[in-house]
Amino acid sequence: MNSSGPWTRAAAAAGLLVGGEARPTVFAQMSAKAAAHDALNLGQGYPDDAPPAVVAEAAVEAIRGGANQYPPGAGVAALREAVAAHQAAWYGLDWDPATEVLVTTGATEALAATILALVEPGDEVLTLEPFYDQYAAAIALAGGVHRTVPLTSHTSADGDLVLGVDREALRAAFSARTRLVLVNTPHNPTGLMLGADVLEAVVDEATRHDALIVTDEVYEHLTFDAPHRAPAALPGAQNRTISISSAGKTFAVTGWKIGWITARPELITAITGAKQWLTYASGAPFQPAIAAGLRMDPSVFHDLAADLRARRDLLTDGLREIGFRVSVPEAGYFTVADAAPLGEPDARALAERLPGEAGVVAIPLSAFYRDGDAGDAASHLRFAFCKSRPTIEQALERLESWAAPRR
Ligand SMILES: Cc1ncc(COP(=O)(O)O)c(C=O)c1O
Repeated sequence: MNSSGPWTRAAAAAGLLVGGEARPTVFAQMSAKAAAHDALNLGQGYPDDAPPAVVAEAAVEAIRGGANQYPPGAGVAALREAVAAHQAAWYGLDWDPATEVLVTTGATEALAATILALVEPGDEVLTLEPFYDQYAAAIALAGGVHRTVPLTSHTSADGDLVLGVDREALRAAFSARTRLVLVNTPHNPTGLMLGADVLEAVVDEATRHDALIVTDEVYEHLTFDAPHRAPAALPGAQNRTISISSAGKTFAVTGWKIGWITARPELITAITGAKQWLTYASGAPFQPAIAAGLRMDPSVFHDLAADLRARRDLLTDGLREIGFRVSVPEAGYFTVADAAPLGEPDARALAERLPGEAGVVAIPLSAFYRDGDAGDAASHLRFAFCKSRPTIEQALERLESWAAPRR
């Protein structure tokens, strides 16, 4: 059957099909390339690390103890209470676990359900650009209009790439049609953490335009210098903010797909209206395990971030020595590196060739731009450092051999 005919027009219109096929995500495409070339995969953001033992043991115990059938749609009480306690302890935010917390199937479902529940056709949704690629698809599914604010970039005195947000450009992007502003901090793909001044501008403009703030904070605990700033904790923000996070990155369990939302009851009710028809409920045995994880001592979270920071330094220092112009991320799993100094102006073409030529996979930054048009960032690649030290070291050796003749 032709999969791009009239029956599938809706999916095609939302940009979900390409040439009659489901458009593969760039991560799936590049992971397939890694396997085909036996290349080291610094593309997709999943860690080599094992989860903390407390978390893994709790999941095993939950399975053995019989937590294997549908849990409550809103999430098990132990996890909703742990999410509320975590938000209070880390950010000073008070939420009622019974009415203001919703457990979801990863941040992915949280974002989709939020956008589907709150965006009407024609409403504008504002994000930074580059952006996590799901945003554009979810906005399109809801019939929303995606508006973006480009990141700024310049070269520092030491030759590094420095990325930032132009607060005035962000303010100017709001309009009378803005329904949601989606704030991803720490940011994927750049590892940028939005400063207090930028977040204050978001709250100020959202209030002026009566828009809602949706956050994506999945890297909240993977910060290397300053602690994460939860947007909902800013003065005047909590009542209009839907905060989203998940367990995958914090606890190195990206395959478990447990996420959560905190927001005022009427917003949680509306989002539950969408969530219950997407998955109804989320991974029963993983929920108590993540509850145990969220209640771990803060020192455990700090140790996980410190360990990752060392691997960030290994990768960024190595890429800089090889000849890339690198950005040093403040948080997250990824660093952005500019291949232009190595004579490579087109990162998309380079990302296609690198697995075969160097045995290393990276993601072109264009994957995080509308229509793949990265503009000034066309020569930028995203490399993941959430991999083991030997993997990063070996990838750097391979890239060094590949780059040596180009310098
Ligand atoms: C910014 C961002 N948001 C959301 C997600 C998806 O999170 P989850 O795996 O919890 O669905 C990711 C995963 O890479 C991400 O980087």
